[in-house]
Amino acid sequence: MTTMLASELPLPRIGRGKVRDIYAVGDDRVLLLTTDRISAFDVVMAETIPMKGAVLTQLSAWWFNQFESALPHHMISADADTIIGEVPALKNHRASLEGRAMLCRRTTVFPIECVIRGYLSGSAWKEYAAHGTLAGEKLPPRLIESARLEPAIFSPATKAATGHDENITVARRREIVGSEAARTLESMTRAVYALGERIGRGRGIIIADTKFEFGRDADGRIILIDEVMTPDSSRFWAVDVYKPGQPQPSFDKQPLRDYLDGERRAGRWNGEAPPPPLPASVVDATSKRYLEAYRRITGTDLKIAGVG
Ligand SMILES: Nc1ncnc2c1ncn2[C@@H]1O[C@H](COP(=O)(O)OP(=O)(O)OP(=O)(O)O)[C@@H](O)[C@H]1O
Ligand SMILES: [Mg+2]
Repeated sequence: MTTMLASELPLPRIGRGKVRDIYAVGDDRVLLLTTDRISAFDVVMAETIPMKGAVLTQLSAWWFNQFESALPHHMISADADTIIGEVPALKNHRASLEGRAMLCRRTTVFPIECVIRGYLSGSAWKEYAAHGTLAGEKLPPRLIESARLEPAIFSPATKAATGHDENITVARRREIVGSEAARTLESMTRAVYALGERIGRGRGIIIADTKFEFGRDADGRIILIDEVMTPDSSRFWAVDVYKPGQPQPSFDKQPLRDYLDGERRAGRWNGEAPPPPLPASVVDATSKRYLEAYRRITGTDLKIAGVG
């Protein structure tokens, strides 16, 4: 499998996010093509991370399969042959699809990111340490960094078109999606996270926090969409080295973030695009982290036909 920075498929491209290229398949389906792009601190790097797109797509597919009986979701198939069977126009583009493409039910996306936190970390820890709150709501006193939060805290954010997402209040959330949908999004978020957290923990990964997206399908049903509990949308920690009271080494972009922090401290990067070039060792270490996250959670190595 070759790495991919951007795709060119013979379908109408309706979007290009930081990581995915999105194509329309007729009126009611979309093809999500996860490239090997990587972003950190909201800046997309110039380099690709080998196997990253396949890890994100196949890990999401694995989770959708776990949730099959628990809740409705958007996945139709993440298998290249099945997708080509459904969309014959793609038959000469198998190599671009392999591992990284997911055919999905198209939805109208709710414009909020459903963030849920089971542990106090990152920006949430910073806010709590400064003000004793999370997303403006008071938390119990004397919590320590990386402490487990019980119950988990639902702290949705707006999907900012550019730049950083912003936490929003309960009232604002109701304004944006309506109070009935707001309730459904929260209960679905809690249900998926509880299920995923339990499965992850049993496999040696703490899913400290994560972000889901939901959309409304053609029948008006609210369904889980986008990527699910991947290293890009979540904070993964290893159960065996978890130690509250300090930051935890996280499973995903840590080598990349550490490198970029070093460049910033050295005054070689101002934190904005364009990013500094990445050494091969950082690219390689990051690719290994993604593959390791997949292996730990699913219990198998990621095998993509034509790779090896
Ligand atoms: N079933 C679906 N129907 C319609 N749109 C979808 C569906 N699933 C995912 N999407 C949309 O596809 C896009 C995925 O692209 P990507 O993740 O690269 O972009 P992003 O979310 O804008 O950026 P980032 O994840 O880096 O913040 C998102 O805008 C998401 O809302
Ligand atoms: Mg996204």
